[in-house]
Amino acid sequence: MSVIIAPSLLSADFMNLADEIKMLNESEAEWLHLDIMDGRFVPNITFGMPIVSQMRKLTSKVLDVHLMIVEPEKYIESFHKAGADFLTVHEEACVHLHRTISQIKELGMKAGVSLNPHTPVEVLRDIVSELDLVLLMSVNPGFGGQKFIENTYRKIERLRSMADACKSELIIEIDGGVTNKNAGKLVAAGANALVAGSYVFGAPNPKEAIISLKQY
Ligand code: DX5
Ligand code: ZN
Repeated sequence: MSVIIAPSLLSADFMNLADEIKMLNESEAEWLHLDIMDGRFVPNITFGMPIVSQMRKLTSKVLDVHLMIVEPEKYIESFHKAGADFLTVHEEACVHLHRTISQIKELGMKAGVSLNPHTPVEVLRDIVSELDLVLLMSVNPGFGGQKFIENTYRKIERLRSMADACKSELIIEIDGGVTNKNAGKLVAAGANALVAGSYVFGAPNPKEAIISLKQY
């Protein structure tokens, strides 16, 4: 499977969001990564369902929605209505993770679970076969532009072994500090989706930056 590139709109120019989405539509990026923050699970607040619905009207690419919120189970239906294709919740925010994942899938969305840097991948051992995606945070969630945490490679390798053991074609997505310098090593370790915010939107030519995340 070739790598999926998911630019994070967190680093986009929100005053020119329609132009940014047009650029992504014309780019080699497969997905759009949307970071939803509530100021409680993470120390930052971004945007909610109305913006996601507006974005849905502007693209036919996959909307990869990353919920960094407490009690995500309360909002599954709202994000489905807003047009999410993949809905990812944090393991650390879910008391009944299996129930939450089942609810996401019952609505026809793909289900993902995200892990903070300190959370071992082994917490997913008994649910990994039911997941479409695991999003490994390679920075502490909340902000773009942070430094990549090197231990992520070991987590990817262990998670890929767990997925292989249950014959799952799990998507392992990496989020935080991804650049063309570490993309090849992440894919070699077993990742097959890369989120990139500041690297793409801070580049002089974002479309070329996206291509550079696929060439190594
Ligand atoms: C951080 C978000 C990321 C963020 C990544 O909490 O989940 O998606 O946009 O930004 P960069 O790529 O700049 O590290
Ligand atoms: Zn994210």
